[in-house]
Amino acid sequence: MLVRLTYASRAAAPLTQAIVADILEQSRRNNPLAGISGILCTSGVQFVQVLEGGRDPVCELYNRIVRDPRHSMVRLLGFEEITERRFGGWSMGQVDLVRVNPALLLKYGDTAEFNPFATSGRATMALLDELISAGAVITRVPQI
Ligand SMILES: Cc1cc2nc3c(=O)[nH]c(=O)nc-3n(C[C@H](O)[C@H](O)[C@H](O)COP(=O)(O)O)c2cc1C
Repeated sequence: MLVRLTYASRAAAPLTQAIVADILEQSRRNNPLAGISGILCTSGVQFVQVLEGGRDPVCELYNRIVRDPRHSMVRLLGFEEITERRFGGWSMGQVDLVRVNPALLLKYGDTAEFNPFATSGRATMALLDELISAGAVITRVPQI
């Protein structure tokens, strides 16, 4: 049974390439073994991550991630059973929201600044879908 879990969180320190690279390295090492795919969006001090896979592996990974000291204020934006993956092409794709066209952010939010804490989970998901179609995922790693 497949599920999709989406959350937002605030980084413990301003995000550097090294912090993000470490997280992506862990994700790409562990996720294929657990049958998990997804994307990690970063924007200054915020994360939004989508995890897709079996219910047990996704919930176990989420519980691990929540306890990670590199971020706090983890807020669940969505959890749903799905019939197919949306991000199956990525063991953990990355989207840098700082580089995204402000017009796209305005389409889904009340300001041109990305703020997942003040946006509905549905609008955040719609923004992510549009980013995927626009080819904004900057690192592609084949899944499993
Ligand atoms: C925002 C964020 C996203 C993360 N995403 C993943 C992930 O998708 N997969 C993963 O294995 N670890 C992820 N981690 C790291 C986990 O919290 C944990 O450190 C890691 O899974 C431990 O694995 P290891 O023992 O193989 O290093 C993430 C951490 C943060 C802060």
